[in-house]
Amino acid sequence: MNETLKTIERRTSLRRYKDVAIKEEDLELLLYAAQRAPTAGNMMLYSILLIRDQHTKDVLSKTCDNQPFIAKAPLVMVFLADVQRWFDYYRVSEVKEFCLRTGLEFRGPNLGDLFISVSDALIAAQNVVIAAESLGIGSCYIGDIMENYETHRELLDLPEYVFPIAMLCLGYYPDDYKPIVRHRFEHQYFVFEEKYHRLNEEELTAMFAQLEASIPQPNKYGAENAAQYTFARKTGAAFSCEMDRSIRKAMENWQGGNPLVDQHV
Ligand SMILES: Cc1cc2nc3c(=O)[nH]c(=O)nc-3n(C[C@H](O)[C@H](O)[C@H](O)COP(=O)(O)O)c2cc1C
Repeated sequence: MNETLKTIERRTSLRRYKDVAIKEEDLELLLYAAQRAPTAGNMMLYSILLIRDQHTKDVLSKTCDNQPFIAKAPLVMVFLADVQRWFDYYRVSEVKEFCLRTGLEFRGPNLGDLFISVSDALIAAQNVVIAAESLGIGSCYIGDIMENYETHRELLDLPEYVFPIAMLCLGYYPDDYKPIVRHRFEHQYFVFEEKYHRLNEEELTAMFAQLEASIPQPNKYGAENAAQYTFARKTGAAFSCEMDRSIRKAMENWQGGNPLVDQHV
């Protein structure tokens, strides 16, 4: 295995950090790794917030589903899907007027722009994760930044066409840390040749056998199997419902509207 693959293999989510700040030269390298990530149309439809203020970290540790380790991370990065910057540039550069003059149809920010900016932001984030690992810096994604849209919008000063799609907690590995390599599903269950293969009951049972064996019995959910247990903990949990609500709220901005009269663009 080469060094890149070894770095990928070594990475695990880190939720306990050495109590030292990230060195500025390491931060520069992390940001360089983000910047060099592929980006649709070379438009860099994302922004990165560097959160080092203790109060902001304290708030995020609560608003992101009460995860206290967030407040203890020396550095938190929020990855924003950012379509605002380009549409601001279009506005100051009179793109609407250009469209009227040339007969080109102007369009405001819509779901396509959102999805491509989400792709950009996540690809940049993952470059940071791998670069961090190569520098002895551990990381953990926080998906709950998608919750509490109104609170996060105010806390982070987000304009309408910016959506916080991912957050990373970052910090050096503690000296006594022993990585836990977590199980993944075998290729046969998620890699298919040419066309999608929907798993049948037998394949699903085989795929989840190891997970099934790891579920505590009895458990606090009264779950009889891994599916019931995972649904209670994740898919059907309160944080998932809040994430749905929050994203729907944010999406109210992304309707496209009548682009020629849309005041926000
Ligand atoms: C999109 C995304 C969101 C995640 N959100 C959280 C989170 O809110 N809290 C947390 O502790 N871990 C979070 N994780 C980390 C996962 O739990 C972790 O990647 C998974 O359990 C596999 O473990 P590993 O990364 O150590 O291999 C998230 C990971 C991803 C990719």
